[in-house]
Formats: sequence, structure tokens, C-alpha cells
Amino acid sequence: MNTDDLVAECVSALAASDPLPATRALLERASRDSKLREALRHGRTGLNILHNAPDLTVLNVVWPPGVTLVPHNHLMWAAIGIYDGREENRFYRRTGSSITASGGKDLDAGDVLMLGNDAIHAVHNPKRAYTGAIHVYGGDFVNQPRSQWTGENLEEAPYDIEIIRAEFARAEREAETSR
Ligand SMILES: [Fe+2]
Repeated sequence: MNTDDLVAECVSALAASDPLPATRALLERASRDSKLREALRHGRTGLNILHNAPDLTVLNVVWPPGVTLVPHNHLMWAAIGIYDGREENRFYRRTGSSITASGGKDLDAGDVLMLGNDAIHAVHNPKRAYTGAIHVYGGDFVNQPRSQWTGENLEEAPYDIEIIRAEFARAEREAETSR
């Protein structure tokens, strides 16, 4: 499949009677599809938007080595399928205005993770190589107001895309200099 096929199949999965299992099955197939993986490897570092609509967002996420995203929520379901490398997910639950660590899941190529509407997670690429992931969200991931938790006390604050961009840039610079 190519990236247009991926988006078309995500739209079809969303219209299925049970969209989450349909999306999981799609990502299990897509993350192992050699033609699609080759196409997605041309993505730029960061969040490449393949599709963004009020009910569905599809991203090709290219994680540089060592990048770490602060804990954040999405306020919509999410499905993550890894096609290269590894994505470490750490989960949290709310405790007042802060959060407490609550397990994690390491994903390798071919693995799929489903996250519920209330999930709070932090993401890290532990590899010295780039990690590639297909992220599918059951809503408008780009415009949905949501939260992140930062600082020593992990206080809730509005999601700030600039912090994310700065972290991607930092990790990318570090990857360049260690090359
Ligand atoms: Fe996330």
C-alpha cells in the first residue's frame, strides 16, 4: 500500500461498526507493509500530517534518536503502529493537578498500541537510530485543546507545541553531531 491507501483504509476503518479493532488490524498490516514503510521513511523528523479532519487524524511520526516527549493527553482514542525502531511509552494517571506513573509499554516494529480517550503518556526513542510510527487519532488531533504535564511536580498545563518542536530540534541536533 502507499500513503494514500493508508489514509483511505483509516477512513474505512473509522466507518466500520467497531472502529478500534478495525484500526488495530489495519495498523498491524500497515506497519509490516514493505512498500508503505519505504514511503513513510521519506517523512521529515517530527509529526508529518497525512490526514487531518474533525473525526480522524493520521500522522507519520519520525522520532529522532533520544527524543523524549513530556507526558500529555489527547482526549480522543489513539492507535500507534511502529514501522521502524522502538517507541517507549510510559503511562500516567491523574492525582489532583499532577500525575503518577502507572506502567509502560515498549513497542518495536510491527507492534500496535491502542490508547483510550483518557490516556496520558510520555514517549521516548531509546535507539541511536530514527523510530518511525503511524499514529491514528479518532478526532482532530491538531486543533483539540489538551494538556501536558511538566516541571519537577508534573503540573498540568495547556499543551504547548513549541516545547515539542524544541525537543525534536534538540534531539535532531544531537543526532547530527554524533553522526
Ligand atoms: Fe501522544
